[in-house]
Order: sequence, then C-alpha cells, then structure tokens
Amino acid sequence: MKKVVILFLCCLVSGSLGLPNVQQVLRTKTQLKSLEHTKASRVAKVDADLCPLCIQFTGQAINQLLNIILNVGVVGTCGQLCNLLAEKTGSQLIGAACTIFCDIEGIQEFIKLIQEADLDPIYLCELLKTCPIFDGGDATITKISITPQSGPQGEREIMFAYASKNGTGTGEIIVGVDTVDGIPVESGFLQQPLAAGNYNKTLTLKAEPDPDCDPTQQPCEMWEPGNYTVIIDICNGECGSKHPHSKVYDRKTATFTITNDLDKCSTL
Ligand SMILES: *[C@@H]1O[C@H](CO)[C@@H](O)[C@H](O)[C@H]1NC(C)=O
Ligand SMILES: *[C@@H]1O[C@H](CO)[C@@H](O)[C@H](O)[C@H]1NC(C)=O
Ligand SMILES: *[C@@H]1O[C@H](CO)[C@@H](O)[C@H](O)[C@H]1NC(C)=O
Repeated sequence: MKKVVILFLCCLVSGSLGLPNVQQVLRTKTQLKSLEHTKASRVAKVDADLCPLCIQFTGQAINQLLNIILNVGVVGTCGQLCNLLAEKTGSQLIGAACTIFCDIEGIQEFIKLIQEADLDPIYLCELLKTCPIFDGGDATITKISITPQSGPQGEREIMFAYASKNGTGTGEIIVGVDTVDGIPVESGFLQQPLAAGNYNKTLTLKAEPDPDCDPTQQPCEMWEPGNYTVIIDICNGECGSKHPHSKVYDRKTATFTITNDLDKCSTL
C-alpha cells in the first residue's frame, strides 16, 4: 500500500516540478529561471527511490516544519505535525510526503533530526536514512565549454564533463553565473551517488531577459553586453554546507561574452 502511495507521489511531484530539478528546492537565494534542464535530466526515469523525493520534500517544507516546531511547541504525532504542514503549505501532497518521512523514525526523532539538519535538505535526508552517505568520494571537472562563446543575447549551451576516481556521495551540482549587473543567476541539481567514471551534462542558459520576470517581485537579469563567468561546483552534500558529509569536490569556471548587437546594426 505504501509503495503505491510513494509512486503516486513521485508521479505528481515530478509532473509538477520536474525531477530531478532541485532548483526551487535546494536554493533559498534569489532564483532566476534562466537555466533550463539538461537533456540527461529530461529523460531521467522516475522510480520509487526515496532520496530525490525526500530532498524535494524537505527542500519545500523544511522551513515551515521548523517554524511549526518552534511556534506550536509540543506536537504529539506525525499526523498532527503533517496536518499542520499541509494547512500551512496548502498542499495535501506535501502533507502526505511528510507522513511518509515522519513515520520512518517516529515523531520525536523526526523533530530532533529537523532541528539538527538546520535547513540542509540533503543532510536531513541522510539523517532520515533515505539518501546514501559516502565520504570517500571525489569529482574533478575536466572540461567546460560554452557555445556560442561570444555573441549577442540568446541561448548558450553549457557542457561540462567531470570524472570521479572513487565515486561520489549524495550531493549537488550548482551552476552559477557571475553577471555584469551583479544579479545572481544559479541553478542546483541533485546529484545522486555515482560510481567511478566519466560524466557530462549539457544545460541551456537563456542569456536574454525573461519576459515573465516581474521586477516588482524579484530582480530581473537584463543580460547586458559584457563578460560573464560561469561557475560550476560539484559537491558532496549541499554545496557550502558545514554539516558532516559535505564537501566541495571541485569548482571550475569559464567565461562567455554578450556582444552589443545594436552596434553591429548601426555599422551596417
Ligand atoms: C579514494 O579511495 C581510496 C581507497 O579507499 C582512499 O585511500 C582515498 O583517500 C580516496 N580518495 C578520496 C579523494 O577520498
Ligand atoms: C557524455 O557522456 C556520454 C555518455 O554518458 C558519452 O557518450 C559522450 O561522448 C560524452 N560527451 C562528452 C563530450 O564527453
Ligand atoms: C571581456 O574579455 C575580453 C577578453 O578577455 C577583454 O578583451 C574585454 O576587455 C572584456 N570586456 C569587458 C567589458 O570587461
């Protein structure tokens, strides 16, 4: 019965959010939806593996769970906690996922682990034993290419390759862009444990103003002409986390240029 529920959740969650996109989930900083998904992740199979679901769930709910625990005080059962969460988020789905993960260790332990994880979804899912832990891992970024390297505003294809000698632990890859106007653009991806080997990913960066971006709600990146630096971090655990089982395996950068196409027009 539980398996059916989990599969159902996976389907719904992945349908609405696009597993393994952890962009909205892991990142609490300013997000711009400029980075689209890899070809690899589009074909990624959805299975009953609880690790991605746990990270997606905790990423969406960890803040509110902590608030409920701090403000409501004594919560007696998983049912009570998860009902409060469903009310606060307006999502029965998040409430149902809450019940699955709370039931693993029981309410007392669940609350303790949420406090211990201190807003780090990957660490919480490791504490809940739904994501594997492996600390002897490594990864080295061997290549980054950006095409077109120079040109007017528009799509850039970012390909990066990396190699691991020992394999990797549950972690994430963050692709960020250091922009001319200083507005942060970044996207994070859950990286499930990998065997030793060579890997690569291709992302599409929409290096052009997003017509759906509302400047009254968030800063909108304008992709002004100039030099941009793409920064790629591959990490065990959450990048930058101080928790156990966390480490930046490697960081490498590459640049691209947005030219002023109006200049070209005026010279014609
Ligand atoms: C890779 O594994 C070997 C053997 O277990 C170990 O000695 C080495 O320290 C590991 N490398 C890293 C980067 O942890
Ligand atoms: C990327 O990985 C795939 C297999 O996963 C391989 O066929 C392809 O050659 C790799 N591409 C590059 C540029 O390394
Ligand atoms: C961008 O980089 C190129 C090559 O490194 C350099 O010549 C140029 O001055 C840079 N442009 C700006 C606006 O910094």
